[in-house]
Amino acid sequence: MNNNDTAIREGDAMSEKEPQTGLCASRREFLVAGGVTAAFMMIGAGAPAPAEAVMKSYGRTKIGSISALKEGKPAKFNYPDKNTENFLVKLGTPAGGGVGKDADIVAFNSLCPHMGGTVTDGGYHHADGIMGPCPFHLSTFDLTRHGLIVAGHATQALPQIQLETKGDDIFAVGVMGLIYGRNANLG
Ligand code: FES
Repeated sequence: MNNNDTAIREGDAMSEKEPQTGLCASRREFLVAGGVTAAFMMIGAGAPAPAEAVMKSYGRTKIGSISALKEGKPAKFNYPDKNTENFLVKLGTPAGGGVGKDADIVAFNSLCPHMGGTVTDGGYHHADGIMGPCPFHLSTFDLTRHGLIVAGHATQALPQIQLETKGDDIFAVGVMGLIYGRNANLG
């Protein structure tokens, strides 16, 4: 999909009906919050400072439409910039951060948080909602549970693209987690 063709700037059409959002006080956020708390406790013990904030909002960009999605068939899109590849998938089962009437549409960055392997090369396994294995060191990720690690060398979940819907349109609005290769999410 050409992102430039469909990009919708933040604030566009926002005066209409409120969009459905996948944002929630999720288990992943809880786990993340717990990790940050632990990190600050470690600072007091002389440990290194914690990593950059794990959640970042970006412009609201249309990335697809519900009617065009086929269950179990990931679709690629770029966000928050044209060089960053992600995938969107309708899982067919409710998922953490999922949007749509069945809360089963999710999106993630395509790069493994371990050393940047392209996890989509390992394929999506629809029966289990699993992406991978990563071709480098075989990490797999559970797309039904915010991209948490199932197995492998990765120590962080797959960065999840935060979604909203409005009618048939699907919008990306932010990224939860640090995209591989960056020391901070884009400002
Ligand atoms: S780069 Fe994916 S498991 Fe190492």
